[in-house]
Amino acid sequence: MFDTMTLTKTVGALCGALLVFLLGNWAAETLYHVGGAHGEEVAVYVIDTGEGEEEVAEEEGAADFETLFAAADASKGEKVFGKCRACHKLEAGANAAGPYLYGVVGRPVDTAEGFNYSGALEEVVDVWTPEHLYGFLEDPRGYAPGTSMGFAGLNKSEDRVNLIAYLATFAD
Ligand code: HEC
Repeated sequence: MFDTMTLTKTVGALCGALLVFLLGNWAAETLYHVGGAHGEEVAVYVIDTGEGEEEVAEEEGAADFETLFAAADASKGEKVFGKCRACHKLEAGANAAGPYLYGVVGRPVDTAEGFNYSGALEEVVDVWTPEHLYGFLEDPRGYAPGTSMGFAGLNKSEDRVNLIAYLATFAD
């Protein structure tokens, strides 16, 4: 005989059993994860690195420059300057095909007196910090589109830091 009460009790009991089962499952999973807390941390780290990696890469880029620049050798830079000599002189005021580079490290862009600049450089830089020179000299026309400096660029980062260190010795 099925009265409503029996049915309700049966369904209730089944639901209770299901709930206990689900709770048990959940508890077991939670415990498992707590137990495997280390694994979980690793997983979270992996998810985070999507963004984190770029930041790290950027930081490494900056660190790379600083590390490289700290180890720069001005005497090796003198040789690299051979590629610039056709157009640039290192004496103050001596403009040639390019502006004089005396004191150029730390010098505001486009300020060699009497030189007729294209105006393309000051569009992208204010002051020739070592880091800006490092970027510019890798690919002048990519860095400052429209520049009248007809030079392909220096691929080797060592060449660039050595050259910048050399240029830095020509200053007051
Ligand atoms: C073919 C000639 C030529 C060569 C080679 C050349 N430059 Fe230039 N450089 C120029 C000209 C022209 C400008 C002016 C660019 C402008 O106004 O857009 C210039 C501008 C510059 C500036 C900006 C100076 C300022 O007053 O703002 C720097 C720095 C520079 N050159 C460094 C170098 C270095 C270092 C090399 C060698 C690796 C080099 N250049 C090779 C022609 C040359």
